[in-house]
Amino acid sequence: MAIIIDKENQIFSLHTTHTTYQMAVGKYGQLLHLYYGNRCEGDFRYLLTYYDRGFSGNPYDAGEDRTYSMDALPQEYPSCGNGDYRSPAFVLQNADGTFSADLRYESNQVVKGKYAIPGLPAVYEEEEEAETLILTLADAGSGVRVKLYYGVLPKLDVITRAVRVCNEGAAAVSVQKAASMALDFMNGTYDILHFHGRHGMERNVERNTVFHGEQVFGSRRGASSHQQNPFLILADRSATEEFGSCYGAALLYSGNFKGETACDQYEQVRFLLGMSDELFSWKLEPGQEFWTPEAAMSFSDNGFSKLSANFHELIRRHVCRGKWRDIRRPILINSWETAYFDFNGEKIVDIAREAAKLGVEMLVLDDGWFGKRDNDFSGLGDWFVNEEKLGGKLSQTAEEIRALGMEFGLWIEPEMVSEDSRLYQEHPDWAFVIPGREPVRGRYQLVLDFSRKEVVDYIFTQIAEVIEEAGVTYIKMDMNRHLTDVYSAGAAEQNQGAIIHKYVLGIYDFLERLLTRFPDLLIEGCAGGGGRFDAGMLYYTPQIWCSDNSDAIARLKIQYGTSFCYPISTVGSHVSAVPNHQTGRTTPLETRAVVAMAGSFGYELDLNLITEEEKQQVRLQIEDYKKYWKLIQDGRYFRLTSPWQQNALTAWEFVNEDGTEALLQAVTTDTMFNPPVHYVFLKGLKEQALYRMEGTDQQYTGGALMHAGIPVPQMKNEYMAWSVHLKEVR
Ligand code: DGJ
Repeated sequence: MAIIIDKENQIFSLHTTHTTYQMAVGKYGQLLHLYYGNRCEGDFRYLLTYYDRGFSGNPYDAGEDRTYSMDALPQEYPSCGNGDYRSPAFVLQNADGTFSADLRYESNQVVKGKYAIPGLPAVYEEEEEAETLILTLADAGSGVRVKLYYGVLPKLDVITRAVRVCNEGAAAVSVQKAASMALDFMNGTYDILHFHGRHGMERNVERNTVFHGEQVFGSRRGASSHQQNPFLILADRSATEEFGSCYGAALLYSGNFKGETACDQYEQVRFLLGMSDELFSWKLEPGQEFWTPEAAMSFSDNGFSKLSANFHELIRRHVCRGKWRDIRRPILINSWETAYFDFNGEKIVDIAREAAKLGVEMLVLDDGWFGKRDNDFSGLGDWFVNEEKLGGKLSQTAEEIRALGMEFGLWIEPEMVSEDSRLYQEHPDWAFVIPGREPVRGRYQLVLDFSRKEVVDYIFTQIAEVIEEAGVTYIKMDMNRHLTDVYSAGAAEQNQGAIIHKYVLGIYDFLERLLTRFPDLLIEGCAGGGGRFDAGMLYYTPQIWCSDNSDAIARLKIQYGTSFCYPISTVGSHVSAVPNHQTGRTTPLETRAVVAMAGSFGYELDLNLITEEEKQQVRLQIEDYKKYWKLIQDGRYFRLTSPWQQNALTAWEFVNEDGTEALLQAVTTDTMFNPPVHYVFLKGLKEQALYRMEGTDQQYTGGALMHAGIPVPQMKNEYMAWSVHLKEVR
């Protein structure tokens, strides 16, 4: 049993294989948080302390008891208006305009299996070993009920959370804030690790002390963003890659979000994660309800490495869906850095022909195939084929590509519209523009109002037709600007605050419709690279183009940061031309391939333009990927060194489930005269087993490789790669 309820004492315990989570109803009915950490048994109410606290108020029904204050007690779902002045998880605006909700425990329910959320991505569990706990809290003043959902996935050491707000009162209310997750810690000193960045340099890791003040990480851009990622780690200050306690929280959501940490006046720490409350309000008429997105939490007392492994398994098998979840993804060549807007059908087939000879399995035609689209000034929204540019039908080009033995994939950017397009001429009110104001342009484009069903219907019909006609088996779905001027001509004044969230729901609806109509379609997410790389998107798109920066050395940092939450199978990564188009850096082809292989592998350069010797290298790289894909896609991934701390070399490793096989890869990032020797220490091997290094007679015990390490061979230059496959000798 994963969920244990002590009915008499109203204590709720959630157990996974290695963790325990506990809450209990307090003296006056509020739900209090007691414990989250290593698995253990017991009644943790003894941890609660009651003192008379100055300037910390008490609930009215506490009478003369001044020791019971919501401002000091650890709460399960802190609400604004109950005397707690810390940052709330829940803010309700009542019909009279006041901001208050006094949530008291009402009932519980345990359901077999993992709950789902209508219209939103959610973790799923096929083996039915998951359980759901629903705790209902009620606010007597408004008649609103807040239902806290907990999904317990024991084997994964994961607990998911979502909140359903139901207006069972007689008057309309408005939800101003509803976080998906709140964690109150009564003690401990913590650091917060967050993943910040910019276009072309996503998910840099930063570690800060949780201080006496509120630290906020989030996005108000309409997408989860390059700038912050909806994944946070709250770690014990001494936690490292392999040691110490840490809590990870990932939001399955692709829009505005907010993560908060704060150390309060009594040295207690609050950790919140959910949709952002900025630019948001959701009106609930009597009888209506609102679901928050889901947050997934995990705890590790073996450092970040184990925490990442938990999230990798969760996302790989319980968030990503469909046929592509478990099988090898096609090795593709993408036309963007290969030809940009400058192509016709013949050129695309030429690119495909050479790629096919070398073993590439799919040609992806990126931006520029539709409407009037020879640059980024025009054409978005007109999802009909530019036959004049292509020199024929798209189905013809696709047919020629299939005749080469390849599949055909296509780029789309459905949420956007160019002012210079037929769509904008016909439906100017479908774009986000505030009446009477000039809109902000981004890449010369405007954003379509995907909160409106008729807009999603129209775009879906157009795109589905093209997919059907050209036999497209892969879609790259891009988004190249953030939201501004959010005004929906379809919504009443008091509902404009709901539009950004409805926009995200519209995107999920669009993606779900695509997958329903074309169940075998592989969709790769993209938002100017990794600007919407989140667990919500991965429910629809099992891989995401990780960054518009394809430089192998920059990618070491980007992919390192990405790996804290997201499995390697989700990381779109390609070999591109040198000098690199974004950084101007030249790296060896081998290095570019080693880095790209730590992801869903592909090419993004014209293979007609490389030398015969390089072509032979490409052939071998493709063979290697086919040989090792299972290890890469399904194996446990270990970060062996950090590119942020170690400037000479970055190393990582994949190990299969039973520890009989490993792939060790390293790239040098500095060059020195008379350098010291670098040793890397492998992980996840069997102590006693003997491993042979492929292509050599060298044998090592797992223990030696893990504890004594292995010297990285001396490399003549910077940016060289070393990749070795180790297999247990039977
Ligand atoms: C941004 C993407 O990240 C690129 O890979 C490419 O698809 C361009 N958009 C096309 O406009």
